[in-house]
Amino acid sequence: MSNTFNKIFKVTTFGESHGKAIGAVIDGCPSNIEITENDINNELKRRRPFNNKYTSQREEEDKAKILSGVYKNKTLGSPICVIVENKNFSSKEYLKTKDILKPSHANYTYMQKYGLFDPRGSSRASGRETIARVIASAIAKKILDHYKIKTIAYIKQIKNIKANIDHSDYSSLKENTYNSPIYCPDIKASKKMESLLDKTIKEKDSIGGVVEFAAYNMPTSLGEPIYDKLDARLGSAMLSIGGSKGFEIGKGFESSKMRGSEYNDLYIFENSRIKTKTNNSGGILAGISTSELLIGTVAFKPTPSILKPQKSINLQNKSAVLALDKSSKHDPCIAIRASVVVEAMLNLTLVDFILLNKLSAL
Ligand SMILES: Cc1cc2nc3c(=O)[nH]c(=O)nc-3n(C[C@H](O)[C@H](O)[C@H](O)COP(=O)(O)O)c2cc1C
Repeated sequence: MSNTFNKIFKVTTFGESHGKAIGAVIDGCPSNIEITENDINNELKRRRPFNNKYTSQREEEDKAKILSGVYKNKTLGSPICVIVENKNFSSKEYLKTKDILKPSHANYTYMQKYGLFDPRGSSRASGRETIARVIASAIAKKILDHYKIKTIAYIKQIKNIKANIDHSDYSSLKENTYNSPIYCPDIKASKKMESLLDKTIKEKDSIGGVVEFAAYNMPTSLGEPIYDKLDARLGSAMLSIGGSKGFEIGKGFESSKMRGSEYNDLYIFENSRIKTKTNNSGGILAGISTSELLIGTVAFKPTPSILKPQKSINLQNKSAVLALDKSSKHDPCIAIRASVVVEAMLNLTLVDFILLNKLSAL
């Protein structure tokens, strides 16, 4: 399995959803960065379910324990290991259906490749794995703060309801995102999406969505052409999140329907710096950041676990029906909590390129 990412700010994650703990080892983090368990817990709070009815009702405490690499709230430059113990979970529900292939989930391919699957949860394909990414991101965020780079991710679309996003001011975008129970900064659209989610939950189903991410105050020069272009690495980071099915930077797929004269971002010189009139490229050119707003989207499929019974087959290749119990706990829309993970992967990718840049300009 591949459980490590990044080149300098290396993150290795470990743990199964129903094992003893989930955690991350961060190797390559510079020394003297202030970090406390509280800083990490504040980030974990946003990812946690049980915030409201639109996320999984699994009651998770998610308290971080720093095991190594930090002394008197400062990073030492040595590997940092942080864990979150798995508490308040029941494997009973999972064990009842352990022999049935779960449509659009992981047990079929894991079983084919590894010959067995931890039936107590969803193993490494569990949404809980993303705790480890958010832990590492809490530390990465401190480095971004030093460079005054501000990042955010939020719900842009659920099914066909689209949010109208005002990107002009980071603080109000953040405030509106945090105020929405589904992390959608457009209050009107958020209400419509909440009604659709209520209907979907009643119908024992799930729904897909699109997350947009943005980074403000970007410096130029982040990205390593040609095999580690910033957009290529962001794509890889985002598509490693469970349930993600599409990635776009700037105008993305829409650019394929445009003419050069419409798409090209024209240069201007304003306030003593080179800027572009438009930002269809999403802040990246030839794999390198331009200093315009870095912006892209990630599409998420509907949650595979639904309460509606689904026809499948079992491990004996016989027909079977996967009927999850009312009490089983799943996200009605992965994209909502995944927005916190998208922001985490953005932070971790940007920090890796900041540290890589230190090597390329001696
Ligand atoms: C934050 C988060 C929460 C998730 N919650 C659930 C869930 O409650 N039920 C479920 O079936 N899948 C859930 N998933 C999705 C699975 O992780 C994903 O479907 C699985 O890894 C297979 O998808 P893939 O083919 O895109 O990797 C969640 C994913 C994320 C990122």
